[in-house]
Amino acid sequence: MGRESLTIRDNRTDEKYELLITDGSVRAIDLRAIKIDENDFGLITYDPGFSNTGSCRSTITYIDGQKGILRYRGYPIEELAEKSSFLEVAYLIFNGDLPDQDSLREWVLKIRSNSEPPKMIRKLISSFPRTADPMVMVMSAVTALSTFYSQASNLSNEADREVQLLKLFGHMPSIAAAAYRHMAGLPFLDSDPEMDFAEDFLRMVFQDGTEFTVNPIFSHAIDVLFTLHADHEQNCSANAMRSVGSSLPDPYLAAGSAIAALSGPLHGGANAAVVKMLEEIGSKDRVDSYIKRVKNGEVRLMGFGHRVYKNYDPRAKIIKKMADQILEVADPSPLFDLARYLEEIALNEDYFVSRKLYPNVDFYSGLIYRAMGFPSSMFPVLFAIARTIGWISQWEEFMKDPDRRIARPRQIYGGHVLRHLT
Ligand code: SDX
Repeated sequence: MGRESLTIRDNRTDEKYELLITDGSVRAIDLRAIKIDENDFGLITYDPGFSNTGSCRSTITYIDGQKGILRYRGYPIEELAEKSSFLEVAYLIFNGDLPDQDSLREWVLKIRSNSEPPKMIRKLISSFPRTADPMVMVMSAVTALSTFYSQASNLSNEADREVQLLKLFGHMPSIAAAAYRHMAGLPFLDSDPEMDFAEDFLRMVFQDGTEFTVNPIFSHAIDVLFTLHADHEQNCSANAMRSVGSSLPDPYLAAGSAIAALSGPLHGGANAAVVKMLEEIGSKDRVDSYIKRVKNGEVRLMGFGHRVYKNYDPRAKIIKKMADQILEVADPSPLFDLARYLEEIALNEDYFVSRKLYPNVDFYSGLIYRAMGFPSSMFPVLFAIARTIGWISQWEEFMKDPDRRIARPRQIYGGHVLRHLT
């Protein structure tokens, strides 16, 4: 094989340029040397949605979209979902290796000792109408943490940053539960740091009265679902965390922007949109007409398609299998059946096959959360609890990145060149 470089010939000037290839990429800034004359700014790349642009170097998550591979720090998601707890996986994503027993014990203590946010957060959540979107309540609460932890703006010291990041991660289940309790008109419940992460979360959400036993199938499902949702390399919300983080606000404010990005129906809001779509379709005999509307471009098949996966999302496979276990204990909603039928039809429909559109993580996850008793408005909030470990790990990696710069893309200007007021 020849030199790791590109030779570009600019046909406008007949000039030749050599661009180095490093790790399968060329540096966009090197294109600026390609000019027609000295006054020329030089070439930039144009890549709406950054579909072919690397924004950073990372060692956290590896995805091979063609093969449907997802690995956190090199470990296959299938093995982690089966053999590790969510907090163990969170340790792996944040620290880079799986913990030994002592480090895990210390980690769990650190996270669980941060389970209770400042009580004033409850006042903030109570100030919203009960009909408010819980993602907005959670986003507001997370950004408000910045006012309670003023030392969070001291970003120069790694140990200080970690204190704040683990507070954020530890607080998320209580903040999410408080948003739900406010919507449901139920009193807020304190967290119990002695309890398991997932069990305590389900208790804080659903306990109504004195007696409450967490269904172990549900707490295990939450643990696995949180593992599956923990990180996903440079997705829209991780990009928001890094991009907003690049101007160096404290991590609570950057996380607020990540929650905003995740709430969109094309990203973390898709799990709720899937249930809404299935409710709208209603029955198997109406699937064909819905698929027709999709093919006409009127609607999208929510929970299908992915910017990176051009194969079955490995997470969707695991979630689909989990759905069968949940069905044994929860009301067998006809929507599960309808979802499976819809998937089968779509996977044999040329429109989807030709565009390599497969079920993604959101196609079945909402149905499982619904079977547990969560309203669909809470599904993106559940996604946010899990993805917080991904956001803070990506943010910390960004803070340590020697290439770190403020995010400030270029544009192709197509407006008026110059005009004057008369
Ligand atoms: C998540 O990035 C991540 O990693 C995200 C995530 C994570 O863990 O962080 O994996 C979580 O966000 C999963 C995706 C959840 N979103 C949905 O399920 C919403 C429905 N899916 C889409 O809107 C879409 O597939 C996206 C947003 C996920 C990806 O969009 P792209 O890569 O920009 O693809 P595109 O919009 O350019 O579509 C390419 C073609 C188009 O058709 P043509 O113009 O070629 O005719 O595929 C079509 C699209 O119309 N298409 C769909 C479709 N998704 C793409 N057509 C119908 N239904 C769909 N779902």
